[in-house]
Amino acid sequence: MSFVKNAWYVAGWSSDFGEALVPLTILSQTLVMFRASDGQIAALEDRCPHRQLPLSRGKRIGDTIQCGYHGMTFNGAGKCVRVPGQDNLPASAYVDAFSVHEAHGIVWVWMGDPAQADIAKIFHLEELGHPDWHLHHGDKLHIKANYLNVAENLVDPAHVSFVHPTTLGNAASENVPVHVKTSGEAIVAWRWIRDAEPIGFFKAFGGFTGNVDRWHYYYLHLPSTAVIDFGSADAAAKLDEDDRNQGVRIFALHFVTPVTEDYTIDHWAHLRNTALGDEAASAQMDKMFRIAFAEDKEILEAVHEEEQRPHKRKPIRIAIDKGPNVYRKRIRDLVEVEATEDLGEPVHPVFVQHD
Ligand code: FES
Ligand SMILES: [Fe+2]
Repeated sequence: MSFVKNAWYVAGWSSDFGEALVPLTILSQTLVMFRASDGQIAALEDRCPHRQLPLSRGKRIGDTIQCGYHGMTFNGAGKCVRVPGQDNLPASAYVDAFSVHEAHGIVWVWMGDPAQADIAKIFHLEELGHPDWHLHHGDKLHIKANYLNVAENLVDPAHVSFVHPTTLGNAASENVPVHVKTSGEAIVAWRWIRDAEPIGFFKAFGGFTGNVDRWHYYYLHLPSTAVIDFGSADAAAKLDEDDRNQGVRIFALHFVTPVTEDYTIDHWAHLRNTALGDEAASAQMDKMFRIAFAEDKEILEAVHEEEQRPHKRKPIRIAIDKGPNVYRKRIRDLVEVEATEDLGEPVHPVFVQHD
């Protein structure tokens, strides 16, 4: 098992949750979610404690869910409030409830020890909600691959020249070395391509015609949120590394949610310091990102499929792999630490007779 449980994961955008019961899976745990009448989103284990029917197959009655099999009813905290045919409500008749937090239109769920759920640990950027920056929710990319492969691709600037030749990369960056460092809970890989032809993205945004300095900073926050800070500025400006706000700067945000060991959803969004409030620009960026992310999906699914086949040799690692290597080691360490902690056993009562 490669999942880090004590973490906040993105379940979806705020607009995904309303009246309807929404079934979803995170870290192989099935959840049912809905927005209660007070506006709060509830997230419950999607399994009735009686005969294990997913509660999402039942129906919502006010702020409760009535199981679709024998009608046991649970509130948003997972507590049983009705058992048809009897008056007493057995103590073991409950489902686990998960902490949910909503910010900037993004819905987070805490998947680990409930006692450690702390909203201060939710990923945040000062540019989120800042008036000089425009946030746009993109889409959800469904990828048939393990999340580690998806996340390591997001701390791997070297692939862009080969996988995204028309949007995010070009031949000018093929041989430019990648720097890597660890900064707290983030692994950072970056490189500058100085005085080169602009990539497709910045021909479209920024209107650069002559040579530019271009940067790509890949921040991968443990366990699986990535920020790709990339941009361009006129090469004549000789921009300093810390003055990136003076150029056209875009953050591609990837909230990578492991669904199962073989399936991952990348909720992507973008933030920019240009074309504020311009929805046509957002749509045009979405279009370019969709092209690029479909290219990643194709590569990642092919890799995942190949990994499932028997093979004689371990994959080799090369100089550009520093970011992915550090990432995998940090995840292994976190998983190991959690394996020795007591995360509290989920209660799935089987054949407990109450009458
Ligand atoms: S399975 Fe839910 S009430 Fe019987
Ligand atoms: Fe990519």
